[in-house]
Amino acid sequence: MNKFEYAPAPESRSVVKIQKDYDLFIGGKFVSANSNKRFTTINPATEEILSKVSLANGKDVDRAVKAARTALNKTWAKTKPKERAKYLYRIARILQERAREFAVLESLDNGKPIRESRDVDIPLAAAHFFYHAGWADKLEYAGFGDRPRPHGVVGQIIPWNFPLLMLSWKIAPALATGNTVVLKPAETTPLTALLFAEVCQQAELPDGVVNIITGDGSTGAALVNHKDIDKVAFTGSTEVGKLIACSIAERGIPATLELGGKGANIVFDDAPIDEAVEGIVNGIFFNQGHVCCAGSRLLLQENIADEFLIRLKDRMTKIRVGDPLDKNTDLGAINSSAQLAKIKEISDSGDKEGATLWSAPCSLPAKGFWYPPTIFTGVTQAHRIAREEIFGPVLSILTFRTPREAIEKANNTPYGLSAGIWTEKGSKILWAAQQLKAGVIWANTFNKFDPASPFGGYKESGWGREGGRHGLGAYLKIGKGAK
Ligand code: NAI
Ligand code: MG
Repeated sequence: MNKFEYAPAPESRSVVKIQKDYDLFIGGKFVSANSNKRFTTINPATEEILSKVSLANGKDVDRAVKAARTALNKTWAKTKPKERAKYLYRIARILQERAREFAVLESLDNGKPIRESRDVDIPLAAAHFFYHAGWADKLEYAGFGDRPRPHGVVGQIIPWNFPLLMLSWKIAPALATGNTVVLKPAETTPLTALLFAEVCQQAELPDGVVNIITGDGSTGAALVNHKDIDKVAFTGSTEVGKLIACSIAERGIPATLELGGKGANIVFDDAPIDEAVEGIVNGIFFNQGHVCCAGSRLLLQENIADEFLIRLKDRMTKIRVGDPLDKNTDLGAINSSAQLAKIKEISDSGDKEGATLWSAPCSLPAKGFWYPPTIFTGVTQAHRIAREEIFGPVLSILTFRTPREAIEKANNTPYGLSAGIWTEKGSKILWAAQQLKAGVIWANTFNKFDPASPFGGYKESGWGREGGRHGLGAYLKIGKGAK
């Protein structure tokens, strides 16, 4: 199918040492779980068991929260802001030094291509710690009033799509603002969080400032509902986000919720087509489409739709699907069998409801969880594939005739996380960006992230912003004189 084939270029696994099993990281040490239970984490590209991690129960959560409270009172609250900054810098530097190890481990546990873990996830995670280190001693001058104070102990729950990156989005601002943390990684991707626990030890971060407990939804629920948590930060499904919103509303504690999305990528007829094709491919096939802000709905101006589709399909046949550790791979494994089943189920509904499916021809490995790069044409707004988050490498394509119609279709969603605009006219970008109800809007590019830029959504995409000055505010009690 391709004119020439690349020789395999696998990244070596030898840089990573995975333990047979892992304990919980509480109070600066690895301690065995009260539950005495473990569960396995696998490599979704091969179904090989990588390790067994502890399943924390309510008592374990309680121990971790107590350790975070003790650290807050005894050390962290007394640590001067500029000293806090030094720890964050140290963590950032260690992440850079151990970047290759983290990248290989992330690709093994998650299934994402090494090209992405090496070039996106890990460098951005380090960048988040560097950025927030800079803020730690400047909070009083950031427009949050005279004396912004930390909430205290923060419970943080993260998903499996960007494991270390989401950890850094949560832990870096929490520590910069003087909070202590109990963090729970997702059940299918706990390993880089456990390696991060070692980084905390290596950086000599005071015991208990960061606690990492592995477990499933029951562990997450125990953490959210723990009475001594002062704030919750969650990234994951809208369904769980709603449960958390109910739980914290009863107790009156703050929360940030980063939930799902159904981002519209709008291509106007004056867009540079080859660049737009590249951006659409990046928007939906980056990280197997396991991206809350993915451009999962393509809105094409009708008069360029035929030509655009020819070029898009041609480009999709060149996406290399396979071994995540191969440096040439573009699209890796689907993170779990459950997620693969979900992608298949929604894709089947698209077929049944009358849209036309086309997948790039590619041979998928026999073992592991795989889905080819796929598009649906003939999609209407009523179709499930146009309304629900698929969270996989599946693009739903709709057309429009006028700019106003594009905006109406783009905003016709319960979500509001991201959108993309492709046009050569600056005035059209500004006009469209003002009309779109989305927290992040990219113009003539997509999926660009920076720690200085706030990220978050409207409507069912969540509450609050992470990153930038806005993200810091979510970790602070903002007193008199706050702006
Ligand atoms: P999920 O929301 O169940 O899992 C995310 C995290 O929440 C995990 O750490 C999980 O252990 C924890 N969790 C589960 N139940 C909980 C509860 N009751 N209380 C507290 N924490 C809890 O997401 P899941 O099941 O892995 O994926 C389902 C769908 O959610 C995906 O197909 C996708 O559409 C969406 N999703 C969106 C993400 C995003 O970045 N916005 C990330 C992951 C999933
Ligand atoms: Mg795994």
